[in-house]
Amino acid sequence: MTAAIYFSPTFTSKKGAEAIAAALAPDGKALSADVTRYDAVPEITEFGPEDMVVFGAPVYGGRLYRGAKERFCRFRGRNTPCVITVTYGNRHYDDALLELFDLVRELGFIPVGAAALVGQHTYGEIQVGRPDASDLKEDNAFALQVKEALEAGRFLESVPGNRPYVKGEEGGKGGSFRPLTDQTCSRCGLCVRECPEGAIAADCRTIDPEKCISCFRCIRICPRKAKNMNVPAYLEFAESFSAKLSNPRKNEYFL
Ligand SMILES: Cc1cc2nc3c(=O)[nH]c(=O)nc-3n(C[C@H](O)[C@H](O)[C@H](O)COP(=O)(O)O)c2cc1C
Ligand code: SF4
Ligand code: SF4
Repeated sequence: MTAAIYFSPTFTSKKGAEAIAAALAPDGKALSADVTRYDAVPEITEFGPEDMVVFGAPVYGGRLYRGAKERFCRFRGRNTPCVITVTYGNRHYDDALLELFDLVRELGFIPVGAAALVGQHTYGEIQVGRPDASDLKEDNAFALQVKEALEAGRFLESVPGNRPYVKGEEGGKGGSFRPLTDQTCSRCGLCVRECPEGAIAADCRTIDPEKCISCFRCIRICPRKAKNMNVPAYLEFAESFSAKLSNPRKNEYFL
């Protein structure tokens, strides 16, 4: 069995992981284990040596978001080959790929390949639309190389990053922006159900600041664009941050 396991609030990590998993699956069909929501119950959590798993998660503050780590710890491999991917918003992935490399090995998986992929940044207007068709084509070509490496019995020895990881033991946490809700909200409840941390109250408006990780999933999925971050402090930050990160970076693949 081939599976993509991902934490992906704004769907960019999902796209890369699923594209690679589909290209690796003998019949082009891979299982998707979406563990973005805190209450996700994955269909399968144990994998054997004949399986192949592709992990996907975003970079938060140069690290793996600690909640993504916790979710991935629900899975176990038994010498299961895997591909690890982190998706980042065009700044850098720092130690996130290395952290995922170390984590999956502790969980019984053996990395064959790794990728640091560029996705649209959560904030501002940075690499909007990525991964695009050209990124997904690169992911496909990489998957073919992974297949060859696996057949030849080659495994990945290391990936870029530092130990100890940047920012200490705690790992990536969320940001400090807390979305607002305007009067166009129809109380459809979608954001309440889809918030990865269950941070939005039943009134569809009140956000628990301790639980919210500023992933902006609620803003992206709201059908009425009622969830927003239309406050001057954020808008000013977004504009200068977008200008600073305007040069596109390339996806990096490791075998
Ligand atoms: C709290 C937070 C911290 C982030 N830190 C980084 C970072 O250190 N480097 C970077 O390039 N992008 C950073 N990003 C951007 C995300 O990594 C990027 O948008 C990614 O594609 C989101 O993945 P998703 O669509 O799977 O949720 C950060 C985003 C958030 C919400
Ligand atoms: S998704 Fe949008 S419209 Fe629906 S409850 Fe949330 S804020 Fe309101
Ligand atoms: S409330 Fe916070 S954690 Fe929940 S979806 Fe919105 S930004 Fe993400």
